Amino acid sequence: MATPLLSVSSLTIGIRRKGQPDTVIVDSLSFDIQKGERFGIVGESGSGKSLTLRAIADLLPKGVEVLSGSIRYDGAELIGMPAAQRRKLMGPEIAMIFQEPMTALNPVVRVGEQIAEGPRRYLGLSKQAAAELAIEMMAKTGIPDPARRARAYPHELSGGLRQRIMIAMALSCGPKLLLCDEPTTALDVTVQHQVLRVLEELCADSGASLAFVTHDLAVVNQTCTDLAVMYAGHIVESGRVAEVFSDPRHPYTKGLLDSAPDFDQPDRELVSIPGFPPNLAARPSGCPFAPRCQFAVEACTTAMPPTDEVAPGHFAACFESARIFEGAAA
Ligand SMILES: Nc1ncnc2c1ncn2[C@@H]1O[C@H](COP(=O)(O)OP(=O)(O)OP(=O)(O)O)[C@@H](O)[C@H]1O
Ligand SMILES: [Mg+2]
Repeated sequence: MATPLLSVSSLTIGIRRKGQPDTVIVDSLSFDIQKGERFGIVGESGSGKSLTLRAIADLLPKGVEVLSGSIRYDGAELIGMPAAQRRKLMGPEIAMIFQEPMTALNPVVRVGEQIAEGPRRYLGLSKQAAAELAIEMMAKTGIPDPARRARAYPHELSGGLRQRIMIAMALSCGPKLLLCDEPTTALDVTVQHQVLRVLEELCADSGASLAFVTHDLAVVNQTCTDLAVMYAGHIVESGRVAEVFSDPRHPYTKGLLDSAPDFDQPDRELVSIPGFPPNLAARPSGCPFAPRCQFAVEACTTAMPPTDEVAPGHFAACFESARIFEGAAA
């Protein structure tokens, strides 16, 4: 198989304090993103989705660091790469879109100029050419009257338009990997739909791969080809979206699907998963989901289940998966 565009292997993220054991937040995460793939990362609040994306973009918050593991971009190791070399990847190769565009946009610079900044710096375009590209990118994201809107300041635009500006900005240098952290959560559902469609179309046109963090399964269903389900810093299940959604093999994924409003049956009753995710400072030994899992047996509380390939390209980390989902004897 061709080299994945992104290969994350045994990535462990946490907090290191002198004289104390490390606090592990994201534990030994492994996944690949192929060229052109749209990879969703789902999980409850606090499961480590944002930190995973931020580790890829070298934007971890102060005090949080990669403790071990590897992140390879197009075959090149990013962990330990000199900062100057790594920074050069951000923009032309890897770009990131955040949940709240107001925090990422400069309030006193016209949006067209903000979009043009990357192409001027990274692609060496003239002021005029970069301004034209900015308007072209705005048009591609479906912003009406882009030449006029390019002269607006962020606060003069609606939330949906601002998020389109963020997409235009992120894609302006033609990145091969776009990292999105809950890019539409702040938008109302109709606008969310439109923005996701734009994102999907533009990635398909340019061949860019997408790593897309969300807690919303319907969004993953609409936007992604593949997904990983995270629970308390672990990937508990991964595979093609259609397969994992129709044939989940981890009780947590099953619980999430049962608790989500059904995409086809909006009136269906919601079932929520009882209990809360573990306190990361006092992780249970064994499977982190065991305390909330109705199928847990003794082994689940003592050892971490290995990640098994339950079907080609479909992985789950559950001792009891076969018994629960295939009706096989334990
Ligand atoms: N700056 C920080 N300092 C210390 N701990 C942090 C920091 N940021 C996050 N954490 C810890 O890491 C855990 C995972 O955080 P992360 O932001 O990756 O979660 P998430 O899955 O993106 O959640 P959400 O859906 O709420 O955005 C949090 O529960 C928190 O305990
Ligand atoms: Mg987050």
